[in-house]
Amino acid sequence: MLRQARTAAAQLRTTAPREKAAQLETLMLEGHTVQVQPPWLGNVTTYNQRGLPSGRFLMGDDPRLPSMPDKPRLYDFYAQRVALNHTGFQHMLQSAALAQDKGLADNVVLACLLHDISVTSLIRTDHGYWGAQLIEPYVDAEVTQAVRYHQALRYFAEPEFDYDYPAFYGEVFGESYEPAPYLVEARDFARTQPWYGLAMQVVVNDFYAFDPNRVIELERFELLMRTAFRNPPEGLGFDKSPSSHMWRTIIWPNNFL
Ligand SMILES: [Fe+2]
Ligand SMILES: [Fe+2]
Repeated sequence: MLRQARTAAAQLRTTAPREKAAQLETLMLEGHTVQVQPPWLGNVTTYNQRGLPSGRFLMGDDPRLPSMPDKPRLYDFYAQRVALNHTGFQHMLQSAALAQDKGLADNVVLACLLHDISVTSLIRTDHGYWGAQLIEPYVDAEVTQAVRYHQALRYFAEPEFDYDYPAFYGEVFGESYEPAPYLVEARDFARTQPWYGLAMQVVVNDFYAFDPNRVIELERFELLMRTAFRNPPEGLGFDKSPSSHMWRTIIWPNNFL
């Protein structure tokens, strides 16, 4: 396994960037035997587990998870929850770093930083839509839409942005896979919108942001998470916004009710 990884790494050094990204995506999928991905939520049994009060269902802080402050900000969620999914965490940080290194606007960097937050911390299925609802009260509308629509836009080649259909989608979904009609409609709608360019920047930087050898520090985005994201003074989860319950679910993912 180690030799295979070294050989692959050597090959990658002499490969073009786009091809390299596709190969890395494939490598990351190798060794995964589970074909059906359960959502992160509810993965932990909540009854009679070691470290939990015996004979009771869990309600409140889960002693197996890093503790959260009383008034958590976006940074706390990334440090204490998103980071638990190392691959997804680094994928979003890498995506944001790519956008930032290209000198793109703060809202593009923020959208890249947030784009898969639902995958890492809430639910994988239709993650663009869940993620958009989660962040909508706290970011500019164009950021919400970019996160919402990046999921659909990734399925369609877009020559204007030099974007091809990802090779690894063919591998994992099958060559005969066709995106569902709601995704086609979402793409058609997005193309008519003023935020389409921003959404496509998320897609383009998403495609290249899978490098297991690159580690980006969360601190790099600490200022952006304070200035471009409107953290409520009560803390995310406690400000009575339309998505407060979703943030609370990330704080206490294993509450019985
Ligand atoms: Fe995504
Ligand atoms: Fe992504």
